[in-house]
Amino acid sequence: MKTKAERERDKRMRWWRQARFGMFIHWGLYSQIGRHEWVMNRERIPLSDYERLADIWKPEPRAARFWAKMARQAGMKYMVMTTKHHEGFCLWDTQQTDYNAVKRGPGRDLVKEYVEACREFGLKIGFYYSLMDWHHPDGVNCLYDEKARQRFVKFTHNCVRELCSRYGRIDILWYDGPAPLRTPELWESRKMNAMVRKLQPWIIINNRSLLPEDFGTPEGHVTPESEGRDWEACMTFNDSWGYMPSAIDWKSPRQVLEMLRTAAAGSGNFLLNVGPAPDGAFPQEAIERLKVLGRWLSKHGEAVYGDVDRIEGRLEWMPAGNWTLKGNNAYFWCSRWVGQELVIGGFQTKVQRVFCLTTGQPVNFRQSEKRLLLSGLPARNPDSEAGITVFRLEFNRKPLQKLGPCCQVIDG
Ligand code: GLC
Repeated sequence: MKTKAERERDKRMRWWRQARFGMFIHWGLYSQIGRHEWVMNRERIPLSDYERLADIWKPEPRAARFWAKMARQAGMKYMVMTTKHHEGFCLWDTQQTDYNAVKRGPGRDLVKEYVEACREFGLKIGFYYSLMDWHHPDGVNCLYDEKARQRFVKFTHNCVRELCSRYGRIDILWYDGPAPLRTPELWESRKMNAMVRKLQPWIIINNRSLLPEDFGTPEGHVTPESEGRDWEACMTFNDSWGYMPSAIDWKSPRQVLEMLRTAAAGSGNFLLNVGPAPDGAFPQEAIERLKVLGRWLSKHGEAVYGDVDRIEGRLEWMPAGNWTLKGNNAYFWCSRWVGQELVIGGFQTKVQRVFCLTTGQPVNFRQSEKRLLLSGLPARNPDSEAGITVFRLEFNRKPLQKLGPCCQVIDG
């Protein structure tokens, strides 16, 4: 029996669990330098020098419209944008500090523009908020001085309150960087999140205020968290969260899709980052790849979105590819094409039909006790976008594939 709190979580998480794929946006003063969002800290840039960036930042009006349009086109269902990163510059019209986008260079509420863009393109809205703050005068000494801690925590709670009360319904609160304070008690996170939930009863909160809340946030790797715990892997597109033209190791659509598959197969979500240029433009490399992802997902989306189940314990890895699972259907993502015939071993359930999402054609198959043979396939992988062809294997009950101990083969 689920507790009341668990049932409530199920309700608010419903859309999120079906959405699977979101866009992370890192945008701030650091975008103007173009050397990573940690540049202020890593290069020890004096605060007075860095602050000047606030006055000269002139992003294009409503740049977020393009992001939302791209996210939508790429098959993403939600966005999460940095309302304040570690640098401390607030992108919204805050009363807590003058170091904000309305009072300084941009002269506009960039969070408002982002919210409007998400709504226009039917995307759920997430706010990233960094607890760590390199600009706030108490951001460091809060660790040693109780009065400073109280001031800093008050500032933090007030910022979060503003974000949760000024923009209508917000879907996700994505905390980050709980430093230097190291416990939820010191941040007064319970109180803060109770306030958030009062203002936004449907909001989903991540685990980075040092409380578990609604979902875990593995970063830089896609590894399912334990059964029953919701999780979202976040990943850079090119090894930097903030805009950084010299970071040229862009993940290919193929790599991104494999990560998305791993997330979906483990009942998790995948948040892919883009660091827009200071004017708000997306790097060309991101645009090209997002378009490919969108085209691929428009054909193969049913293997990703919706009530996808964990494959763990039900399906086995294969040399030619791997799986997602949804009810009575197993989706085989074939990324290493082996030719006109494909054999999959170990099914204990009976296949009724095989359909190729990529070609839109039914596939011939023969199933014996230990082996499933797909035949009459094209000689080359028919997916021209990412080289990942998906077969839907339809069963009359939940599929089960067991290859048994790895030393075991079959006779004859
Ligand atoms: C890392 C980075 C930080 C970024 C975050 C996103 O912690 O240091 O800059 O915002 O990842 O999850």
